[in-house]
Amino acid sequence: MLFLVFFVGLFSSPTETVGDSYVAGVFEHRVILNPDPRVPVTRHEALQHMTKNLDVYEEQATRAAQQGVDILVFPEDGIHGFNFTRSSISAYLETIPDPQQETWNPCMEPGRHNNTEVLQRLSCIARRNKLYVVANMPDLQPCPLPSDPSSSCPPDGRWQFNTNVVFSSEGQLVARYHKQNLYYEYSFDTPPQPEIITFDTPFGGRFGLMVCFDLLFRDPTVTLVERGVRQLIFPTAWMNALPLLDSIQFQRAFSLGANVTLLAANTRNDRLIMTGSGIFTPFSATYHHAQEGDPEEGKLLVARVPVLEGMPGVVAEEGKAPKTKESSADHSADPISSSFISYMLRDPYTFVLLNETKQDDLKVCSGTFCCALQYKWTAQSKELYALGAFSGRHKVNGSYTLQVCAVVRCANEDPSSCGQKVEEAESKMDFVLEGWFDTKYVYPSVLVSRMVLEQPDQLEKTEDGRVAMKHGNMGGGLITACLYGRTYHLDTKKAVL
Ligand SMILES: *[C@@H]1O[C@H](CO)[C@@H](O)[C@H](O)[C@H]1NC(C)=O
Ligand SMILES: *[C@@H]1O[C@H](CO)[C@@H](O)[C@H](O)[C@H]1NC(C)=O
Ligand SMILES: *[C@@H]1O[C@H](CO)[C@@H](O)[C@H](O)[C@H]1NC(C)=O
Ligand SMILES: *[C@@H]1O[C@H](CO)[C@@H](O)[C@H](O)[C@H]1NC(C)=O
Ligand SMILES: *[C@@H]1O[C@H](CO)[C@@H](O)[C@H](O)[C@H]1NC(C)=O
Repeated sequence: MLFLVFFVGLFSSPTETVGDSYVAGVFEHRVILNPDPRVPVTRHEALQHMTKNLDVYEEQATRAAQQGVDILVFPEDGIHGFNFTRSSISAYLETIPDPQQETWNPCMEPGRHNNTEVLQRLSCIARRNKLYVVANMPDLQPCPLPSDPSSSCPPDGRWQFNTNVVFSSEGQLVARYHKQNLYYEYSFDTPPQPEIITFDTPFGGRFGLMVCFDLLFRDPTVTLVERGVRQLIFPTAWMNALPLLDSIQFQRAFSLGANVTLLAANTRNDRLIMTGSGIFTPFSATYHHAQEGDPEEGKLLVARVPVLEGMPGVVAEEGKAPKTKESSADHSADPISSSFISYMLRDPYTFVLLNETKQDDLKVCSGTFCCALQYKWTAQSKELYALGAFSGRHKVNGSYTLQVCAVVRCANEDPSSCGQKVEEAESKMDFVLEGWFDTKYVYPSVLVSRMVLEQPDQLEKTEDGRVAMKHGNMGGGLITACLYGRTYHLDTKKAVL
């Protein structure tokens, strides 16, 4: 069998020359909410509300500027909040001009467009602090769209978009992106075509834009990466979903799997389980994840990171990995009698227990998709662990197709608890986790006790779709070690919610 092997030396220093770096900032914001978002308000009331959040933005931009930040990212819904209806959000909307059609500096030329107080304030925040600002706000566009006159209009004759805006350090509006993959957002429309939006900066080269749920889909995220965009900006309002989709866990996984930088700013809201932001590069992670009992407050993160440019990421090749008959036959032979089914994030995983002190060939399959584990405990308590495999369509809260290998700590001593949410653990192991995937898009992560991320020692990908993650010397008890594969080519066209 022919193997093409990439060894990723994760702790080696980046190859970029000195000076090829910039300072990134992300702010996890505890958004001040409208207490009654379903009741329509006047524009004056909407502005009074949004000003409270923008005052926090201004204060944080000043702090960031003092720390030399070049680009500062604020979260999704951070200015207006959430849970509006299509009509109750009206007073919050501004019509954001397309920066590809028009050069405009709202701070310098406030009179050019009416009803743009939020754009003006953000522009001035960027200009006064001499840094790039990325923020998320609602946009109202006329129907049909000037950029897409053939597209059909929503029934009420207006487009309403969940939108990222970017201002240069002079205050110029340089990019506008409309969120593609909405998550139960009844006040917003899906754009008629996915938007692939980038902007160039003097300090860090090119950046691409996306929002929250977009991270799980091909467009725009993977399309950006395939076009060689290696620095992605990710405002989010992410509800944490252990054991596989906690905010920082998947942010880390995507950045490693796609070999890109991710600047992730989450909203902080304890009732909605939203926290977890970070500045992730393929070599480093600077992140924040609030713990139960922490005060519910914002958090500014700042890190100097290398410029990543030009070279397409590891997911850059189009299409699925060829899976040879031979490789699947090799690994899906002899069904494992001791396996059992348990649900993880509502998907039926096939699990086997890790009940020996060490094992070289623990294996589990979901259909013809197989995962294998070599492990040796280095610290073992009474906790129960299992290796799980799932290949199929996830159908709850979005429809998308997966191939996942995961080692999880079960919630208690009953195997039916494997796949449930766990936040703490004491057991540690040295391990190699492998899977034989029908896709190149595999996102690796190691999450340990109390929301700490570990950088895998080694990742290896071969041409036949095999991915292996090796890790040892764990600093904390293992919560989840995961290879999260996305078979985008099997997704249905639309993410229907
Ligand atoms: C939205 O409002 C509904 C009904 O009032 C409530 O149950 C839900 O928790 C709210 N969701 C958010 C995101 O605030
Ligand atoms: C802004 O609104 C005022 C008052 O309604 C109007 O006179 C003016 O023409 C508008 N300006 C623009 C640029 O639309
Ligand atoms: C990831 O990116 C770094 C820096 O650009 C590069 O040196 C490395 O070879 C890439 N890794 C893979 C597996 O493509
Ligand atoms: C581990 O589990 C398997 C299957 O349930 C069983 O056959 C084996 O005896 C167990 N080993 C130990 C050490 O308990
Ligand atoms: C689906 O989302 C709701 C909130 O929108 C959440 O309460 C629930 O846990 C989610 N279910 C899964 C399986 O992720």
